[in-house]
Amino acid sequence: MRIPFYTGEHQNQRLEAKLNERLRRVVQSGSYILGKEVRELEERIAEFAKVKHAIGVANGSDALLLAVQALELEPGSEVITTPFTFFASTACIARGGHKPVFVDVDAKTFNIDPSKIPASVTSKTKAILPVDLFAQMAEYDQIIPIAKEYNLKIIEDSAESFGMSYAGLTAGSAGDVGVYSFFPTKTLGCFGDGGMVTTNDDRLAEIIKKCRVHGSGKKYHHDYIGMNSRLDEIQAAVLNVKMDYILGDIEERAKIAALYKGRLQNIPQISLPLIDSKASPVWYVFSLQCENRNALQAYLQEQGIGTSIYYPIPMHLQECFKYLGYKKGDFPVAENLCDRALALPIYIGMTEDQVDQVCGAVKSFYQRH
Ligand SMILES: Cc1ncc(COP(=O)(O)O)c(C=O)c1O
Repeated sequence: MRIPFYTGEHQNQRLEAKLNERLRRVVQSGSYILGKEVRELEERIAEFAKVKHAIGVANGSDALLLAVQALELEPGSEVITTPFTFFASTACIARGGHKPVFVDVDAKTFNIDPSKIPASVTSKTKAILPVDLFAQMAEYDQIIPIAKEYNLKIIEDSAESFGMSYAGLTAGSAGDVGVYSFFPTKTLGCFGDGGMVTTNDDRLAEIIKKCRVHGSGKKYHHDYIGMNSRLDEIQAAVLNVKMDYILGDIEERAKIAALYKGRLQNIPQISLPLIDSKASPVWYVFSLQCENRNALQAYLQEQGIGTSIYYPIPMHLQECFKYLGYKKGDFPVAENLCDRALALPIYIGMTEDQVDQVCGAVKSFYQRH
């Protein structure tokens, strides 16, 4: 039995009748961009994330760009962030005209290590951009006081962390501004690209609403140099259907993660993901750290099991960020994770037998290596 790294097939089968009905209504409505479905989704997500404003945009990467733009930081400001993330988290800083300044991550949580932030603050530092990676949010109980002390804004890259919370804070609500990605593989995913910006700040919300439509509040009057980053009705309709089941989906992911944890204990060559005691996780990604990672991945592939490496190259060693002047060895924890991380399949409808098959293959690999 082949096990893909991700498939939306089972979830879509379960929801087929509801999706068909809702999508049919959109087709018949004649309204395809920023309409009724988007407004409904924005209201539901604002309530779910416990924020005042949720603003639908075209994808999570744009959500980050809009978040950075709305903060109106002085050009060339330094923004402290993590090198162990998806490209968009760093790109938004550079594309906003600012300088990414990396701080290493915590080996246990994979998130930015708050204790290392103060040493990187300079007179040019204006914001921190933590990323809530894989299953848990960053340590905002430490990050927020640091931001207050140095008068820094917080841009929460919560693209992966829908439904998570940390010390009473919901993902997307921990910073001045947060973002979600609704890329299909995400915990809440649509049938293409989709994203959202979240904030409690009325002024930021107003700027972002304008900037997603070319910086215009009134047609053909442009207050900002914005972009075209609007959420489609079709994507919002899919997300509205999935929102009805989101808590059950989160629970199902938790059960799969618990099965993995139970079956993969006591294999000396792997470390299982560790969750901070203040975090309430959502298992978007189940990532191991393992010895002989590339050979394990190839072996699993031969057994018909899909896996993914999040992330093979840290941001400070990417070609396009060479100009920042970092070198190999600057962030050893992140670099080590890039060499050892391997994400196992996790998706709605994954069965216990499939988890057994994956775990059996991992064990048989290490019996030989
Ligand atoms: C941490 C992180 N930030 C940003 C993004 C960008 O989101 P999108 O793919 O919707 O543009 C992603 C999603 O892949 C992500 O994982």
